[in-house]
Amino acid sequence: MFGQVELLPADPILGLIEAFNRDTNPNKIDLGVGVYRDAQGNTPILQAVKEAEALLLTREKTKSYIGSHGDPAFGQQLLPLVLGQDSAVLQASRATLTQAPGGTGALRLAADFIHRCAPGKKVWISDPTWPNHYAIFNAAGVEYASYRYVDSNTNRLDFPAMLADLQQIPEGDVVLLHACCHNPTGFDLSLEQWQQVLEILKARKLLPLIDFAYQGFGAGLEEDAAAVRLLAEQLPEVMITASCSKNFGLYRERIGAFIAVAANRNDMEKVRSQLAVVARSNYSNPPAHGSAIVATILANPELNGLWRREVDDMRNRINTLRQQFVDALKPFGLAEKFACVAEQRGMFSYSGLKPEEVQKLQQEFGIYMVKTGRMNIAGYSEQNLQYLCKAIASVCGK
Ligand code: LMR
Repeated sequence: MFGQVELLPADPILGLIEAFNRDTNPNKIDLGVGVYRDAQGNTPILQAVKEAEALLLTREKTKSYIGSHGDPAFGQQLLPLVLGQDSAVLQASRATLTQAPGGTGALRLAADFIHRCAPGKKVWISDPTWPNHYAIFNAAGVEYASYRYVDSNTNRLDFPAMLADLQQIPEGDVVLLHACCHNPTGFDLSLEQWQQVLEILKARKLLPLIDFAYQGFGAGLEEDAAAVRLLAEQLPEVMITASCSKNFGLYRERIGAFIAVAANRNDMEKVRSQLAVVARSNYSNPPAHGSAIVATILANPELNGLWRREVDDMRNRINTLRQQFVDALKPFGLAEKFACVAEQRGMFSYSGLKPEEVQKLQQEFGIYMVKTGRMNIAGYSEQNLQYLCKAIASVCGK
């Protein structure tokens, strides 16, 4: 039977990890997968995480199952981080959280929930988006379509096109929105633009599914939640997928959450019961280590403060790297072409580099990025910035 199995190409993002590891170029730079790196090129364990783990080592009493919704302490801590300390939604018991194995796991819960409870509803996704969005909805058997997000001629956010497309979506369908740090482009909406999106969601009774994978990497932990909180306060029903991979640096621990905001407590309980079944048939119980770390940090004022400072440091470093990149391209006459890099937010930049230029960067310079031209800004450092910019200038014919 295995002889009939089709050989598939490597994942457009994760496949780059292996290709990069195989490359023997001593100057190689990995701008592929979205992981934060420090000035030395390492992805360190946050100090707050290390201290929480030390506490857990003495406090943890069991490795028994934590249940399909995960650790209640994690849910209690994460809900206010996402929805706000004074959230009216939380006060009205309208929100339910199900712990998931990472943001990807949370998205799969969302997709399976849509498939079970809203069959026939299409999910509308920004073009471009994180390629795994398509794979997840495909795997769950949920149909999807695109709305425009970027003007491919100018490589800038095309907000009028986005609004025009949202207005055409059939009533009741699901719209996938990136809360902040849009992956792959780095182009975020202003609060005023979110207000306009909200009006369309209201008017067309669309159900938002908000992918919130980068809280803290855009403008700040509270600032980045503004759109999530606006939609959750103003709409009867909202779905949110949160990830702790980036902001807690817990990539391999697989910790995230699916949150549903329902119109009332009764509906919330019904949704919650469905999520337990969805989780049970996928993986039964989520892994516990990541949630224990997050819950410990958030509940402990000292660790919480330390963690917030560490998130601020990661974000500030990325924003500094963005500006340094544009400045370093000035001598090549490319500062204007890449000016958007300094304006974008989050880990990624849609650089505007064409697939053939990306290929040359990889083959001739050992610089790896996603074929679409998405660069992980945290992937280069002050040390290799000049090498990177020279290589980019070379493939751009400068
Ligand atoms: C990325 O977009 O690089 C990250 O979200 C990692 C992943 O799973 O693709």
